[in-house]
Amino acid sequence: MSNRAGDAGALWGGRFEGGPAESVAALSRSIHFDWRLASYDIAGTRAHIKALHSAGYLTVPELEKLDKSLVQLLSRIEDGSFSAKPADEDVHSALERGLIEIAGAELGGKVRAGRSRNDQIATLIRTYLLDEANHLESLVLQLIQVLTDRAEENLAVAMPGRTHFQHAQPVSLAHHLLAHAWPLSRDLERLSEWRKRASLSPYGAGALAGSTLGLDPHLVAKELGLSGPTQNSMDATASRDVVAEFAFICTMIGINLSRFSEEIIIWATAEFDFIKLDDAYSTGSSIMPQKKNPDVAELARGKSGRLIGNLTGLLATLKALPLSYNRDLQEDKEPVFDTVDTLSILLPAFTGMVATMTFNKNRLELLAPAGFSLATDVAEWLVKQKVPFRDAHEITGQLVSYCEKNGLELHQVPDNEMANISKKLTPEVRDVLSVSGSIKARSGAGGTALPRVIEQISSLRKLVAKGVN
Ligand code: ARG
Repeated sequence: MSNRAGDAGALWGGRFEGGPAESVAALSRSIHFDWRLASYDIAGTRAHIKALHSAGYLTVPELEKLDKSLVQLLSRIEDGSFSAKPADEDVHSALERGLIEIAGAELGGKVRAGRSRNDQIATLIRTYLLDEANHLESLVLQLIQVLTDRAEENLAVAMPGRTHFQHAQPVSLAHHLLAHAWPLSRDLERLSEWRKRASLSPYGAGALAGSTLGLDPHLVAKELGLSGPTQNSMDATASRDVVAEFAFICTMIGINLSRFSEEIIIWATAEFDFIKLDDAYSTGSSIMPQKKNPDVAELARGKSGRLIGNLTGLLATLKALPLSYNRDLQEDKEPVFDTVDTLSILLPAFTGMVATMTFNKNRLELLAPAGFSLATDVAEWLVKQKVPFRDAHEITGQLVSYCEKNGLELHQVPDNEMANISKKLTPEVRDVLSVSGSIKARSGAGGTALPRVIEQISSLRKLVAKGVN
């Protein structure tokens, strides 16, 4: 039996004749994962005692003594002299035990007035995730910066652009790399919009219906650096959409890394030979001495599955929960903590891999025009000669078919054969039959032409310089 009424750290028990069965205590316990919220819980309690004092429930000396005790408790946690015990049910009960050890049972016992673990935990998860959001944002910004740097180094390198994974049109390597930076910039935008919703304080919601003690929720919110209190106490304690939204944004970051990873894995094969990964960011095989494996990219791809699992698990926990607090909600933490840990460990390795990989420029350039990737340029040239696009498409299709039959590239077709296919195919068409001409011509908004790529680099540099927060 554990957590009997009167036990230090037991937050309930008065109406019970005995404590819970060991199996129930083991099931209920969350201390092994919610202990990471300890400093946030202490910050919440420091704000709460100020509200208790301003409503007249604590004298100035009591407030001061409690506040000092909480500061001391925090430094004991930091130096390791106070830690959670297996008998502590959760972070809240462990910290109440710690506070009572320092401030005494009478004074320490006053702190719980006017709040419940339900509004407490709903607040702590927000303040914790807001901090983690800052950390993840800085890691994503570093990756965007590296992608932008690598793009700038490779402005003039052409490569095959693909659709359906088939050769489509030539693009610059810079344009391709930046195409991986933009989705990450949107993930950061999402995080900053999420912050508005996360920065509200559920303190004062109590267990579900609000508090009778007249504690000022604005004061608590301000102390915690939040923008204000939540508007409905039942919603405040029952909802976890803020947690789910955070998990979604992290998952989207993971999926964006995974999509790039898939390309990196393919680019590193002997068949493609587009890139070489730095030794520091690849691994060998225990049996095959020749191997150099793209494990960072593979782990990014694998871990995105794990992030999807965490998000899905969390959503499944929330589905069909009636109002307001239910203990199911305790299950929100492990998935989102794992998501934070996974991305925190993945992003630096991924960024290092991108920063150090080398591009095989000759090979990229060689393959840029392969697969008749300049055919669209021929068709659009014909349109500029006033040929309706429908006919231009048909004529170019015949040109491609002639090339396939005769084992030629588009630019190798003799003038007379071009004229046989269509009188409109005059020798001037050769002006657009070069990769550099094709890239240069795609100067419309967001295109791969150099001025458009330089614009992208400068927008992304501004974003990196100011951060999104
Ligand atoms: N450990 C709980 C959670 O994470 C804290 C709230 C417990 N509230 C309760 N009434 N048992 O949700």
